[in-house]
Amino acid sequence: MRRSLTSLMAAVLLVPLLSACEGPIGPEGPQGPQGPAGPQGPPGPAGTPGRNAAETCTQCHNNSMAIFAREVQYAKSTHRLGGNFERSTTTCAPCHTHQGFLETVATGAIATATNVMDPAPVNCRTCHKIHSTFTQADWALTVTAPVRFKWNTAHGTFDFGDDGNLCASCHQGRTLNPMPTVGGPNVTITTSRYGMHYSTQGNILSGVGAFALGTGVVTGPGAHGRKTVTAKSCAQCHMGPAFGEQAGGHTFKMTYEFGGVETPNVAGCRDCHANITNFNLNNLQTRVQARLDSLVVELRRVGIMRPTDYYARTGTFPADVAAAFANFQMIYADGSLGVHNPAYVESVLRATLTRIRQF
Ligand code: HEC
Ligand code: HEC
Ligand code: HEC
Ligand code: HEC
Ligand code: HEC
Ligand code: HEC
Repeated sequence: MRRSLTSLMAAVLLVPLLSACEGPIGPEGPQGPQGPAGPQGPPGPAGTPGRNAAETCTQCHNNSMAIFAREVQYAKSTHRLGGNFERSTTTCAPCHTHQGFLETVATGAIATATNVMDPAPVNCRTCHKIHSTFTQADWALTVTAPVRFKWNTAHGTFDFGDDGNLCASCHQGRTLNPMPTVGGPNVTITTSRYGMHYSTQGNILSGVGAFALGTGVVTGPGAHGRKTVTAKSCAQCHMGPAFGEQAGGHTFKMTYEFGGVETPNVAGCRDCHANITNFNLNNLQTRVQARLDSLVVELRRVGIMRPTDYYARTGTFPADVAAAFANFQMIYADGSLGVHNPAYVESVLRATLTRIRQF
């Protein structure tokens, strides 16, 4: 037993010795055919939802001045500094607060469902779709469709072009209560705030809403309200090249102080009126101011305007007297002294003065 184990071990030991004498290994043979594909692996984990391959924060939050320069301008804008965004109850919030604006743009209503808590003033996100897709597409304006004059639907819809449609969504007159009918029955005014509010610019630019108290009233937009002429509408004049933080750009302001003098920012006007140096082109503003002054005298004479300011006196008045008051308030509140729509404003004032002098 012991011997046979020894001889077996010897035989095993001899094998490698013998093969070591077989000569060099030949060249490797050709590669065999590819085997069949293996079975499909299990599915990977789900990706993060709601992400968009084009999205990055740095396309806006970078070292360019795209945001910062506008923030500086906007900080001086009346939208930011006017201080009236505490007007956040249901009927004021649609124009005076960020939240109320976006809510009523979506619902089409003229009041919010409830008072707006923690009201924010008009800001970047009111006008631009900031942080919706986190791409450059977010600079798109929140409103571009033609404007419906929803506070007084009798005034219809008007297309100012993209920029103006946004602005006129808030810069439009409110309705009158009571509403006079030209030549109709007397009306009773119950509040000193009778009028279309301060926001009448959209109506003046498109030439709707004033009472025609005689013949010769030229309704509809002038060159400044027509998108075929003034393509950027309000932005053409109010958002021209910025002058620091004082005018143009996102200040929306038309004047700046230079050497202690209030100076008109005519940068936007020069695209069309090459040599203009102030807004009073051909004395339009002088004429409009003079007619407004005459109208104040008449409105006080007939007793509908308070003697020390431009607000209404309460009481019962002939319809055309109330309408004349409303026309004054509309044109005065517009603030452009006729520039927004020269022919409309001049013709309305002329007819209104002629009529009020008959009382
Ligand atoms: C389309 C350009 C744009 C993109 C893309 C963008 N942002 Fe903004 N971001 C803004 C603007 C505009 C503001 C508001 C600035 C202001 O209110 O003065 C802002 C404000 C902010 C603020 C300040 C706090 C606040 O909410 O107002 C933070 C934080 C911020 N962004 C983070 C981000 C992050 C994170 C991303 C990417 C996921 C991003 N942003 C993508 C434009 C952009
Ligand atoms: C969400 C409503 C809203 C939008 C949109 C809006 N505005 Fe205004 N705007 C206001 C309100 C409200 C004020 C007054 C703010 C205050 O007194 O607190 C104002 C004030 C202004 C003023 C200053 C008026 C003054 O008497 O000093 C100008 C100029 C102006 N807006 C122009 C524009 C232009 C141009 C656009 C479009 C690019 C625009 N607004 C868009 C609501 C709006
Ligand atoms: C249709 C939009 C709209 C509605 C609704 C609205 N406002 Fe305004 N309001 C404006 C705009 C726009 C201005 C700035 C106009 C300007 O300065 O030429 C303004 C200006 C004002 C001012 C500042 C006047 C001044 O002399 O500086 C006060 C105060 C005000 N509104 C109060 C209210 C109150 C209170 C309500 C609700 C009962 C209200 N507004 C509803 C758009 C609106
Ligand atoms: C009252 C509305 C309004 C507000 C508030 C506003 N913007 Fe704008 N913004 C506009 C309009 C209108 C334009 C287009 C101007 C033009 O056509 O010249 C514009 C243009 C821009 C552009 C150029 C976009 C492009 O496509 O190249 C930038 C950037 C911008 N705004 C940033 C801001 C920032 C940042 C804020 C806040 C600090 C802000 N805006 C607040 C109305 C607004
Ligand atoms: C053709 C140029 C032009 C266009 C377009 C234009 N404005 Fe004006 N706007 C002016 C001028 C000029 C004034 C008067 C400034 C002055 O006399 O101090 C003015 C005055 C105003 C005022 C009074 C407060 C202020 O800044 O003096 C408001 C508010 C206003 N515009 C809003 C608008 C809105 C909203 C639009 C578009 C719906 C618009 N404007 C379109 C030129 C324009
Ligand atoms: C896009 C071109 C364009 C721009 C920008 C423009 N205007 Fe005009 N403007 C016209 C045209 C065209 C007319 C003549 C037709 C009309 O009255 O409607 C006119 C007429 C006027 C009138 C009436 C002149 C008269 O004899 O009664 C005044 C005033 C005026 N513009 C002032 C301005 C002021 C101020 C600005 C800048 C704040 C401005 N315009 C910007 C095209 C423009």
